[in-house]
Amino acid sequence: MRTQVGIIGAGPAGLMLSLLLHRAGFSSVIIETRSRAYVEARVRAGVIEHWAAGLLDELGVGARMRKEGLVHEGIEIGINGERRRIDFKSLVNKDIVVYGQHEVVKDLIQARLSQGGGIEFDVSGTQVDRLDSDQPIIRFKKNGESHEIACDFIAGCDGFHGVCRPTIPAGVLTEFERVYPFGWLGILSESPPPSHELIYSYHDRGFGLYSMRAPNITRAYLQCDPEEDAKKWSDEEVWAELKRRLGPDGEKILKTGRVFEKGVTAMRSFVVEPMQFGRLFLAGDAAHIVPPTGAKGMNLAIADVLFFARAIEAFYKSKSTALLDGYTKKCLSRIWKAQRFSYFMTTMLHLNPKDGNFDRRRQLAELDYVTSSKAASTALAENYVGLPVD
Ligand code: FAD
Ligand code: DHB
Repeated sequence: MRTQVGIIGAGPAGLMLSLLLHRAGFSSVIIETRSRAYVEARVRAGVIEHWAAGLLDELGVGARMRKEGLVHEGIEIGINGERRRIDFKSLVNKDIVVYGQHEVVKDLIQARLSQGGGIEFDVSGTQVDRLDSDQPIIRFKKNGESHEIACDFIAGCDGFHGVCRPTIPAGVLTEFERVYPFGWLGILSESPPPSHELIYSYHDRGFGLYSMRAPNITRAYLQCDPEEDAKKWSDEEVWAELKRRLGPDGEKILKTGRVFEKGVTAMRSFVVEPMQFGRLFLAGDAAHIVPPTGAKGMNLAIADVLFFARAIEAFYKSKSTALLDGYTKKCLSRIWKAQRFSYFMTTMLHLNPKDGNFDRRRQLAELDYVTSSKAASTALAENYVGLPVD
């Protein structure tokens, strides 16, 4: 098999890249370890930045998001029960769309397959080779048979636990990492959310986030120990804690319902530099992880592949390698700003067991400041709706 860009991973990064390349007239093949049903059911992110929603429209894959997604013009920040609103629309004249990542993935897969594009699901034994030549190779097995794809470029869109990053020879990459002493217990339930917008709630018992997937489906998270076993939390305990962390009116405004998903996610910040080696280019979670408090992971993955697709187009259309050579620099400038914002949101809102009473007072001052100063709330809004991708 031969293709221009071989893509490892059918997450948001790999799928968006295949559509961007197709629009520009280039061939690609995606290989994915999991089944189509698995990737289409994997519950993850929920917030799509303003420009990313526009890009889905531009690529002709935004129709269901526009019909079923929820447009939000602000968020609420709870401070021990007192809720204050950050109004994106009046501060930066932009909004975001709340629409599940797995729904985006479904839309992208359907679009790619209807273009006749290749996605090989259920592969095993993925290997990437000859990365420093101009014909890198992907090897994998499917149904017991070995396959090889000769490529001009390989896009490593295989997430944090993929094979591409570890294949890069020792000494090339520098890792930057911070692991947080807390995680999130996330649930999905058949019940209406407590507000029509997201509530990021600071509370003396720990952080709580109240999101949604539809007017009658709540997505909520509780700060917990990163090693916590989700099965140890009964539904009753989850609801009682979610109500407490919402504040005094939690009992009244949080409606309970059947919980149909429960899981724990540990939290880390991680970046590798550079994001390329020879003809292998890393994108999305394969190159960086943000703690989810800033709602940035999926959006960063989409921004990376947008920059990569532009670089590929410049390479084939004008034989220029300038954008390919500058890929790492271009991506990192945006990634580190998203890291900064995610770190800011995370440390402002969570209870850190290592912190003392000084830090709690500092957090309260920060929360008061970002919700009362126009300059500070504009900065939050500008980052939340998404920095430019020009
Ligand atoms: P992935 O989605 O991880 O996709 C990688 C793909 O590669 C997977 O399908 C995997 O199966 C495949 N793969 C791995 N290894 C191989 C191999 N060897 N061969 C072939 N295929 C392979 N982000 C936001 O923007 N907003 C949010 O609100 C948000 N909330 C989140 C909440 C939670 C609880 C979590 C866990 C994450 C959240 N994120 C959020 C982050 C977001 O989900 C990720 O950043 C996003 O999935 C990254 O996309 P990706 O395509 O880079 O990687
Ligand atoms: C959701 C997840 C996030 O990490 C976030 O910051 C906001 C919303 C969600 O899953 O809805």
